[in-house]
Amino acid sequence: MKKISIIGAGNVGATLASLIAMNELADVVMVDVIQDMPKGKALDMMQMLSVFNSDITVKGSNSYEDIKDSDIVVITAGIARKPGMSREDLLNTNANIMKEVVSNIYKYCSGSIVIVVSNPLDVMTYLAYKILKDYGWTRFKVMGMAGVLDSARFKYFISEKLNVSMDNINAFVLGSHGDTMVPIVSFTTVAGVPLRYLIGEEELKQLIERTRNGGAEIVSLLKTGSAYYAPAASTFIMIKSIIYDKKQILPVSVYCQGEYGYEDLVLGLPVVLGKDGIEKIVELNLEQSEKQELDKSAEKIKQLCKELYTLNIV
Ligand code: NAI
Ligand code: 2OP
Repeated sequence: MKKISIIGAGNVGATLASLIAMNELADVVMVDVIQDMPKGKALDMMQMLSVFNSDITVKGSNSYEDIKDSDIVVITAGIARKPGMSREDLLNTNANIMKEVVSNIYKYCSGSIVIVVSNPLDVMTYLAYKILKDYGWTRFKVMGMAGVLDSARFKYFISEKLNVSMDNINAFVLGSHGDTMVPIVSFTTVAGVPLRYLIGEEELKQLIERTRNGGAEIVSLLKTGSAYYAPAASTFIMIKSIIYDKKQILPVSVYCQGEYGYEDLVLGLPVVLGKDGIEKIVELNLEQSEKQELDKSAEKIKQLCKELYTLNIV
């Protein structure tokens, strides 16, 4: 049985743990700084697994030693922006958490595949890769989850608008996990029919806007905290493709070395995900306007990544 460790047993981390366990994908370890909390959640999940007669093991811990020899490590640790906190403060705080988490990954889990979920996603993935590459990780084993979630949101809004099955829709959102994300309309189809044949420009604009605002819409409804069911499910789908070596093409945040003309930044691009992590970055022939939007997204990420150097984090 494979072993998956999840750092941060909060909303996303614990929901992901229960999805992995319910689907008997791997044994799970959840680590968090809050005393005993991950142990309580793990105990509850073990009792849930007893109901289902499953022999998967879920362990909660406050000690990194328990992640030893994990095949996959998912990072969901971090804090959300609090009132009075600047974006720089948030970046600083989460970057320091990331550094601590990553130092334990290279200590205990050499050879593992690392999936970053913590925000700001693109920058945190960049930071994780920059540290891990010095300990032997290739860029294909350190990735960020965002595109699967953003694409799922786009797909849901299309399905709702057209009143057709989600199963018929293939949607791709690339770029940053932020305002500049790029729903790739030219490659979005409904039962193989290009989306533009089925929907007017004005309606399409609204769907794109709602997708870009997908996380914020949920935050404004929840009042405290952010989305976690869809984020956990999106991470689960990535893990499933890796564990079963399914080689699914999924939008994943990856460190670029020339792909699509980008260098030294992490950006959401279509990749083939299999047992070794990212097996290939797929280069699509994007429409000119989509490529221009992706360029803008890349530029925005590049500026954010620069802050890591300005703040002396890397
Ligand atoms: P949460 O607040 O429910 O959980 C975060 C957990 O991290 C807490 O339990 C906290 O105690 C723990 N933590 C903090 N510092 C830690 C450390 N040094 N070591 C271990 N654990 C530590 O937050 P939630 O909703 O689970 O979100 C987690 C992160 O994922 C946030 O940064 C959020 O913005 C991000 N996120 C990213 C998404 C994406 O698409 N990439 C989607 C949803 C959330
Ligand atoms: C989301 O998109 C907060 O990044 C998180 O829901």
